[in-house]
Amino acid sequence: MSFVVTPPAWPKVLTGRADTIAANPFDLDAAVRTGAFGALKKAAGMGASSTIDLIAAAGLRGRGGAGFPAADKWRMAAGVDADQRYLVANGYGADPGSHTDASLLAADPWAVLEGMAIAALAIGATEAILAVRADDASLVAKLEGAVLAAEEAGYLGDDAAGSGRRVTVTVRALQGTYMLGEETVLIKALEGRRAQPDQRPPYPAQRGLFDRPTVVNNVQTLAAVPWIVANGADAFAAIGATACPGTVLVQLRGPAGGGVAEIPTGTALRTLVDLAGGAGSHGLKALLVGGPTGGILPAEALDTPYEPAALRAAGAHMGSGSVVIADGRACVVDLARLLTRFSADQACGKSIPCRIGLRRLSEIGDRIATGKPRANDAVTLGDLAHDIAASALCDHERTATFALSATLRYFRAELDDHLLRSTCPAGVCTPIAVGSASSRGASR
Ligand SMILES: Cc1cc2nc3c(=O)[nH]c(=O)nc-3n(C[C@H](O)[C@H](O)[C@H](O)COP(=O)(O)O)c2cc1C
Ligand code: SF4
Repeated sequence: MSFVVTPPAWPKVLTGRADTIAANPFDLDAAVRTGAFGALKKAAGMGASSTIDLIAAAGLRGRGGAGFPAADKWRMAAGVDADQRYLVANGYGADPGSHTDASLLAADPWAVLEGMAIAALAIGATEAILAVRADDASLVAKLEGAVLAAEEAGYLGDDAAGSGRRVTVTVRALQGTYMLGEETVLIKALEGRRAQPDQRPPYPAQRGLFDRPTVVNNVQTLAAVPWIVANGADAFAAIGATACPGTVLVQLRGPAGGGVAEIPTGTALRTLVDLAGGAGSHGLKALLVGGPTGGILPAEALDTPYEPAALRAAGAHMGSGSVVIADGRACVVDLARLLTRFSADQACGKSIPCRIGLRRLSEIGDRIATGKPRANDAVTLGDLAHDIAASALCDHERTATFALSATLRYFRAELDDHLLRSTCPAGVCTPIAVGSASSRGASR
């Protein structure tokens, strides 16, 4: 697995070892020669609360989309009186268009396993689960082999890395919908129950798998942990954006190429476009940031730093780590309607505002894109998007409206071409006639 080449000065927290062990990423001895499991031994000597304090000082935030401080979650789980606690590494990778987590697991499984063991020791969990997609059977088998090798070498098992504490890891391969990546759905799937999100609180860290305190962390979050233990909190906090330091994997896609890149948080979207090879001869029309429930940002937003708060303010989120370049040939209204339809199709149906609201929103998108808008569609669209997001039971509902909301916020002229003039400037929407009413959009 090779990653997109980034400037040599950029720190590599997650993929630093990947090149060195690229010949056989699943060879434990080769990984140990490059330092794998050294941090676990160090953490075992530090003790649980010092480890949590270190992760807090580093400012590590979750990479699964919500950006929750990892140490707060760990402390919450560690503080609940329980006969068992669980750690779940979320490597499900719900977005079919983003391969960040699978790429990490394939390139350096040891960073994830070591991070899992450190986290398990810190929260007092004896059982950890690595949840991955079932569709890559070869990767699943290799991960199971890696766990076995780590157990045989004593890094996992009854006396994990000489800690005197038991930490076992089980690989669970799951197949399901987009919603399966959501932590409460994932927990139910692991329990073998019908998988729908739960209202929180209680948070999984308080009552999760089999009603026991359960920390669910994305695999990237966990892979950063050994680096922090080995290099110190200050070194990590110095990388990237102050409010969400460190690095993150992004899945880049554009007309000129793409791939997975490790970037410091806070990197400008403009730089990500360059890493993807630029927007090509048709110019940049928009950036789809955050996966299917992400936002659609215009070229004017290219200076937005890739970090949770700035992306939220712009109307997007880190989500699945996907950043897609839509060039001048794209119709933003069409993109928004397709993304909204995906979100409506994926909604699990548990809460009515999401189930019905997203479907209505999707129908409005379809109407607009097929030249049959109603007079008040723009107003309904804005009101509905607001109401759906405000009544969210889970984060899906909170973010599924981003795409259509972006057309109101950033691409109003193009939306009005569809709404008022039955014209699709890009000539994408059919049966709307190709028109020249609005040719704005492409830049760079
Ligand atoms: C619809 C939906 C899908 C999600 N899919 C994933 C996923 O594939 N992987 C992931 O780590 N988190 C996913 N999340 C976020 C998880 O619910 C959870 O916040 C995350 O795994 C926690 O890890 P972190 O604190 O390290 O970010 C999803 C959330 C939603 C609402
Ligand atoms: S908000 Fe949507 S996806 Fe989330 S629980 Fe409700 S219906 Fe399901």
